[in-house]
Amino acid sequence: MTASPLRLALAGTAAVALTLTPALAGAAPGRPGEPRFQEGADGAGDPYFPLAGNGGIDVLHYDLDLTYQLPDPAPAPLEGQLDGVATIELRATQDLHRFNLDLRGLTASEVVVDGKSMRFDQVENELRVSPRPKLKTGDEVTVEITYGGTTTRPTDIEGALYGWVTTRDGAMVVSEPDGSATWFPVSDHPTDKATYAYEITVPEGSVAVANGLLEGSETNDGWTTWTWDAPDPMAAYLATATVGDFELDSYVAANGTQIIDAVDPGLPASASASLALTSDMLVFFEDAFGPYPFNSYGAIVDDDSVGYALETQTRSFFSRRAAEGTVAHELAHQWMGNHVSPGRWADIWLNEGWASYSSWMWSEEQGRTTAQENFEDVMSTPADDGFWDVVVAEPGPLCLFCGAIYDRGAATLHALRVEIGDGAFFELAKTWVAEFGGGTATTADFTALAEGVSGQDLEGFFDVWLYTPEKPTTW
Ligand code: ARG
Ligand code: ZN
Repeated sequence: MTASPLRLALAGTAAVALTLTPALAGAAPGRPGEPRFQEGADGAGDPYFPLAGNGGIDVLHYDLDLTYQLPDPAPAPLEGQLDGVATIELRATQDLHRFNLDLRGLTASEVVVDGKSMRFDQVENELRVSPRPKLKTGDEVTVEITYGGTTTRPTDIEGALYGWVTTRDGAMVVSEPDGSATWFPVSDHPTDKATYAYEITVPEGSVAVANGLLEGSETNDGWTTWTWDAPDPMAAYLATATVGDFELDSYVAANGTQIIDAVDPGLPASASASLALTSDMLVFFEDAFGPYPFNSYGAIVDDDSVGYALETQTRSFFSRRAAEGTVAHELAHQWMGNHVSPGRWADIWLNEGWASYSSWMWSEEQGRTTAQENFEDVMSTPADDGFWDVVVAEPGPLCLFCGAIYDRGAATLHALRVEIGDGAFFELAKTWVAEFGGGTATTADFTALAEGVSGQDLEGFFDVWLYTPEKPTTW
């Protein structure tokens, strides 16, 4: 094919423009006001997890259409088959000729942008898409990714099970901090919150439990499709699509929140008895933190274990047993961690400190151990114990879930409460949620707000409690 006169004319114009404006020669390509197409970064810029999340895009919505089944008989080690179509609405935050999503252990077979098939490839845990036309800053597109593969039992950098964890009767899906990429193409960092919708198809008899409200379920030819709607902005690590033998229990809590619990019927009644306290706890935490921020709540109690519980948004996950203190902890996370999420993973103490402190508050409310007694218990740890070696506000990626993040984090909040008084402390808690809810915040945001609300200079206080790897003695 010969070049069109138009294209020749344009090429000629560009050459002339370059020779006539030598000032531009050393500048980056493109002229002011014209697009400068680049590759989106392969990570969101979090030093603890450099490849988590992606640069240049802001995901607005994930529509996850999943089909999942276990082979019969179940292989050892356990494996499942997951096939998905992820329909992702995203906005370009820079001019892009390519952008990434995170995808780990699964293979994409087709990527469609605004209805047209696009070039893509997969390098390690990154799916790279080259959209044409290229994206200009502010462009919103729909990216449909067909993908799938064999599911296993993935682990995080500490070796703990997480992500899409295959079980005997389905999967436990709990992805903190960066495990969502094991089950869908995702911008896997809390700074990129989005809304979610799910259609999960599983063999008849299995139940798929996701975030938000159950829209319905439909059975055809031995398969059941479960439809869930989660319209509240959510960090990717809080998404779930847990599959298994579950009994669903729905009711409305005293504060008006719709509750949907999913409990494995193979468990003894004692494993989930504390869920009956959810309604009272919602009222209690609303009083402390403000209105419950989401469209629903509830618990998943599975008969398999990842070794911990997770505050999956609107639907907390419990391994084998939902103990009362943990039920309070995961519920409090809905405000502290989920509605207000960490801006960097280094800020994890804001999640775990608040959730642990909330559990202390609940215990005191119930007439058991008081917050002061729990504080004294933490402070009875000898000064030479390794517990005090953690810099709470900069723990490193291998210590996100160290005991100190939880217990010294909670003790920090109790000491702060004593320091600034109950009035300022609970005003701080409510303002924190109101101001940063729906997004993320950092330790610097928290210390600044604490000083603002209390009117006190707290630099010395936070230095001792959050930044010094020693047991606090004076503050
Ligand atoms: N945030 C959870 C909780 O406090 C713990 C998550 C642990 N995650 C992990 N990958 N080890 O209950
Ligand atoms: Zn927690």
